[in-house]
Formats: sequence, C-alpha cells, structure tokens
Amino acid sequence: MSEPWTKGKVIENRHWTEALFSLRVEGPGLSFEAGQFVRIALDLKDADAGSRVARPFSFINPPEDPVLEFYGIVVPEGPLSPRLARLAPGDALYVATNPAGFLVLSEVPEARSLWLISTGTGIAPFLSMLRTEAPWKRFENVVLVHAVRYARELVYQELIREIGLKRPSLKYLTFVSRESHPASLAGRIPAAVRDGRLERAAGLELSPPSAHVMLCGNPDMLKDATAALAERGMRKHRRRNPGHITVESFW
Ligand SMILES: Cc1cc2nc3c(=O)[nH]c(=O)nc-3n(C[C@H](O)[C@H](O)[C@H](O)COP(=O)(O)OP(=O)(O)OC[C@H]3O[C@@H](n4cnc5c(N)ncnc54)[C@H](O)[C@@H]3O)c2cc1C
Ligand SMILES: NC(=O)c1ccc[n+]([C@@H]2O[C@H](COP(=O)([O-])OP(=O)(O)OC[C@H]3O[C@@H](n4cnc5c(N)ncnc54)[C@H](OP(=O)(O)O)[C@@H]3O)[C@@H](O)[C@H]2O)c1
Repeated sequence: MSEPWTKGKVIENRHWTEALFSLRVEGPGLSFEAGQFVRIALDLKDADAGSRVARPFSFINPPEDPVLEFYGIVVPEGPLSPRLARLAPGDALYVATNPAGFLVLSEVPEARSLWLISTGTGIAPFLSMLRTEAPWKRFENVVLVHAVRYARELVYQELIREIGLKRPSLKYLTFVSRESHPASLAGRIPAAVRDGRLERAAGLELSPPSAHVMLCGNPDMLKDATAALAERGMRKHRRRNPGHITVESFW
C-alpha cells in the first residue's frame, strides 16, 4: 500500500447503540480542514491475515484538537466497521497521514444561511465544522439537520446543546423516519424540502441566493435532496460554475 500510515491508539470506544460507536484516538498530529476525512485501517488477523483494510472516516474533532474522533456504524457484512466497533482502549489502528476532501467551508461561496443536512453518520463532518469559528463568522444563520431511522440514533445531543448555547444562531432540526418522535420531523428530507416543512421548521428560506446547502451521508438522500433543491433553482456548486449545493457521499 503506497499510503503513508502512522499508528494511533484507541483511548475510548463509546457505544451509543448496538450499531453506533465513537472512537477517540490518540494519534499523529494531522493537518486538516473541518469537514475533511482520513483513511483509517486495521490489519486482518483471521482468515484474511496479511491484508490491511482501510476506509475513509470524517473527523468529528475540530482541527486543533489533538485527540482524533470518528463516528461509525456497524455494517454487519462490511470488512472494517464491525472490527472498529470491537476495538478497546489501548488497541492500535492505522491512520493515514493525508486527510482530504472538499466538504469544507473554504469551498463554499458567500450566502446568508448555511444548511448542513445529513443522514446517519453523515453528521460527522458537520460537527467538526460547527466547532470552528468559520461558520459563525461567515453566515447569519446555520441550520444543522440530522435524519435517522430511530430516535436513539440522534447522537451527540450534549455536544450539540453546548454548541447551541455558545452560538444562538444555530438551528438544530431532526428527522426520525421509522418511529413516531414528536420532537422530530417525520419522513424524509427531500419530501420536507418539497412541501416546505423544512423551511417552516427552520423559519428560513431555502432558496438561492440566500442559502447554501451541504449534504452528507446516504447517496440516495444526496440524489433525491439534490433533485428537490433543483426544483427550487439550486444547483451543485463547482469552482468554475458557482452554485448552492455541496455534497459528500459516504458510499
Ligand atoms: C469521504 C467518506 C467519508 C466517510 N466517513 C464516514 C464516517 O465518518 N463514519 C462512517 O461510519 N462511515 C464513513 N464513511 C464510510 C466508511 O468509509 C465505510 O464505508 C464504512 O465504515 C463501512 O465500512 P465496511 O468496511 O464495514 O463496509 P464497506 O464495504 O465500506 O461498505 C459496505 C456497505 O455498507 C453501507 N455503508 C457504508 N458506510 C455506511 C455508513 N456510514 N452508514 C450506513 N451505511 C453504510 C453501504 O451500503 C456500503 O456499500 C465514509 C466514506 C467516505 C467515502
Ligand atoms: N440503523 C440501524 O438500526 C442499524 C443497525 C445495524 C446496522 N445498520 C447498518 O447501517 C446501514 C444503514 O445506515 P443508517 O441507519 O444510517 O441508515 P440510512 O438508510 O442511511 O438511513 C438514515 C436516514 O436516511 C433516510 N434515507 C434513506 N434513504 C433516503 C433517501 N433516498 N432520501 C432521503 N432520506 C433517505 C432514512 O429514511 P428511511 O427510514 O425512510 O429509509 C433515515 O431516516 C444498514 O445498511 C446496516 O448495514 C443499521
């Protein structure tokens, strides 16, 4: 493998549910921008001994925090995530030394409102961003949207509450799609974009030129939400053709 790898040591593996976990890792000092990801890896010890399995994970920690934090879900048939979920304090893992990714605020053009819209573990890069100064200096309003299947998957409540206390312009909206949860919107994000429920819940317009949307998580959500936003005149942002939507797909 040509990537430069360095070793990290797990200092905590918090289990939120049977499937959801957060790893805190003492590791190398890495230079990155909030919103980026890095590849993490384990060497397989069982039948596939000899091979290293690596996957990208977004940082939850802000860049200045020396402890790296990653938020994951167990994909039962996946080669890496079930193994990461089983790591215990003191265990080692590999961390690549070259963080990357374009889901970063330095790539986002001027707007009044920043909408950070996620499903599942796709909230990770937005939590890193919200712990930096950039969103609060650049945008009048910041809306964090997190869609999950079940209410118990609404993780990092304490951190989000702390950020909200410090940054009163933060609006935090949730979707719970597979059970009734009165504090959350029901159903899926694209439908709520189309019928105006998301705008009403935020009390903000979701249209150009005032809004910029960052989408992260399930690729089907990215596709369907991009289509719903396109009906409002929003298009993908590109350096050479500025727009209003920035996306990062997790698979
Ligand atoms: C840029 C980028 C950043 C990422 N950041 C994160 C992160 O912060 N946290 C995280 O948990 N994953 C993240 N992922 C996904 C991660 O790299 C792995 O794919 C995931 O951990 C599963 O690994 P695996 O080897 O067990 O299974 P894989 O072989 O990688 O995936 C098998 C299948 O699992 C499903 N899947 C993969 N990732 C997810 C997921 N996150 N949520 C739900 N279903 C999934 C897909 O259907 C996929 O085809 C990111 C992916 C990319 C491309
Ligand atoms: N969540 C669990 O309990 C659990 C447990 C064990 C393992 N896993 C693993 O994790 C994977 C799923 O990850 P996840 O729980 O983060 O689920 P996910 O399927 O990405 O769902 C997260 C949220 O995104 C929504 N969503 C899905 N497709 C969408 C679309 N096209 N447009 C808009 N919204 C959409 C879901 O709504 P809907 O509910 O309407 O689909 C849900 O609210 C599974 O494949 C499995 O391997 C999950």
